[in-house]
Amino acid sequence: MKKTFITLFVSILFCHSLYAQKSEITVDTSVSLGEISPFVYGQFIEYMGRCIDGGIYEEDTPLSDERGFRTDVLEKVKELNPPMLRFPGGTVIKTFHWEDGIGPKYERKPKKNLIWGGINTYRFGTCEFIEYCREIGCEPVLVINLSTGTPDEAANWVDYCNGTENTYYANLRRSHGYPEPFNVKYWALGNEEAAEPDAGRHQDPHKYVEDVWHFIKLMKLTDPSIKLIANGESQHTEWNKIILKGLDGAIDYISYHAYVGTDQGKPYSIFKKIQGTDNGLTNFANLIKENSPEKVQNWKKWYRFPHRTEPIKIAMDEWGIWEYQDPPYGTTNTYEWRHGLATACFLNTIHRHAGNIAMANWAQMVNILAPIMTSEQASVRQTVFFPLKEYRAHLLNESVSVNATSPLIEEGLQSLNVSAAIDREKMLLTLYIVNINPKEVKTAINFTNCKVDKLLETTILSASALNAKNTLKEPDKNVVTTTQASINKNVKEITLKGETVTICQFKLAELAK
Ligand code: AHR
Repeated sequence: MKKTFITLFVSILFCHSLYAQKSEITVDTSVSLGEISPFVYGQFIEYMGRCIDGGIYEEDTPLSDERGFRTDVLEKVKELNPPMLRFPGGTVIKTFHWEDGIGPKYERKPKKNLIWGGINTYRFGTCEFIEYCREIGCEPVLVINLSTGTPDEAANWVDYCNGTENTYYANLRRSHGYPEPFNVKYWALGNEEAAEPDAGRHQDPHKYVEDVWHFIKLMKLTDPSIKLIANGESQHTEWNKIILKGLDGAIDYISYHAYVGTDQGKPYSIFKKIQGTDNGLTNFANLIKENSPEKVQNWKKWYRFPHRTEPIKIAMDEWGIWEYQDPPYGTTNTYEWRHGLATACFLNTIHRHAGNIAMANWAQMVNILAPIMTSEQASVRQTVFFPLKEYRAHLLNESVSVNATSPLIEEGLQSLNVSAAIDREKMLLTLYIVNINPKEVKTAINFTNCKVDKLLETTILSASALNAKNTLKEPDKNVVTTTQASINKNVKEITLKGETVTICQFKLAELAK
C-alpha cells in the first residue's frame, strides 16, 4: 500500500515536471565548438551481405547501368550526397586482397568471404569503387589489410592508385584504362585490430605499433602526401594510449567506432546510449590531447617522409544503429521513425564534438544497417535516410554552443536534443532540434552574442507513428514527411510537434566579434 502511494506520488511529480517545465534553447555564437568537417556526413560500404553485390552493384538487371551500378540506388545515394566513402571493410579487410579485384572481370578471383559468409566476387574492385566515388562526387577512403596482407601489398596499392611514374603498378592502372592517378588521400591502417575474436594478428597494441610501422613506412615512401588513420578502440584506453604514443608523427587520425541499439522493453534507451557516446567522445578527445603533442617533436629525418602538421583528430569511421535483427549477424535492420529521431540526435552529438572529429561514416550505406534497402526488384529509403539527407543539405561550417532546458521524458533524458551551426561570412545560423517527446514542446530561443534578422526557413521531419517504417514490401510508401516552409520573419519562440526533427535556418543581423 505504502509502495503504491509512493509510486503514485513520484508519478504525479514526474507528470508535473513533464508539463510544467519551461523550455528554453540558448545559442551562444561566441563559443565555437570547432569547424564542422564536411566529411562527417560520410558513408561506408563493405563486402558484407548484400551491401555491395545486390546493393550498390548488380550485373545483368535492367535496374543497373552498363557498369553494373544499380541506378535506383545511385539516385538515392546522390540524394544523401556523402562527401566521403570508405571501402572495402570493415572486418572483411582482414582477408581482402586488392589485387584480386582489378583488371578484366573474367580474371577476377571470387573467394569465400571468411569473415561474414558468402563470396567476395571482387567484381566491384578498386577501379569500380573510384568510379562510384567520382560519380557521386565524394572522397574515397581505402582500408588496408594488416592481417593477411603485407607492407609491400599495401604500398603497391598506393602506387596503383596514386602513382604517376613509370612503375609496374602505375602502369598496371593505366593498362586498366585509367591514365590519371586516383589520388586517394585517406588510408586506414586496418580495421578494429584490437578485436580479439577477429581473424587478425595484432590484438596486442605493442604488436600493432611495431608491425604497422612497416606498412606506414612503405606506404608513405610510395606517396608521402597520403593521410593515415590508425585503429583506436572506444572501450580500450590502454590500447589507444599505446597507439597514440607509438605512432605519433606518422598518423593523422585515430578511429572510433560507435554503434547504438535499443534495450528490450526500453524504447528510449537508444537515446541515452547516444548521450553516452557524447561522454565517450569527450574522453577520447582528452586522451588524444594527453597522449599526442599538438606539434610533432624529434622527428627522425631518416624516415624520409614528413610528419603530420596538424593535431591528431578522431576518424569516427563507423557509426550507426545496430538492433541485431536479421542475418548476417543481425545487421539487416528495418528502422522505425524512432531510429530516425535517434539518427538526428547522433548527428547533433557529432556536431557538438566538431572540433575533434575529422570524419565520420555511417555504417553501412546499403542493406547492412543501412539507410537504403534493396531487393532484386526495388529499393527503399529507410526512416534514417531522411535526417542524414537533411542535416547534410543544411550543413554550415562551424559548430557553436547551444543548450536546451526542456521537460524530461524519463530520468536523465530531456525532450529536446539540439546542435547549432554557423557560417560567419554568410551570416547564417542553423539550429537542429530533435523533439523526442510525443507531445509538442513550446520553446523560447535565446540568442547570445548575435542578433537575428529573421528565421529564413524551417524543415520539419515527422512520421505517422514512432514505430512507422518504410519497407521493401511497399517501396513507394514513405512514412516520413518532409515539410519545408519559408518563414521570413523574426521568431523568438517556436512550437515543436511531438517526435519531430526541426531544422531552422536564421539570417543574422549582427554577430559579436
Ligand atoms: O559494420 C559492420 C561491422 O561492424 C564492420 O565490419 C566492423 O568494423 C564492425 O564491427
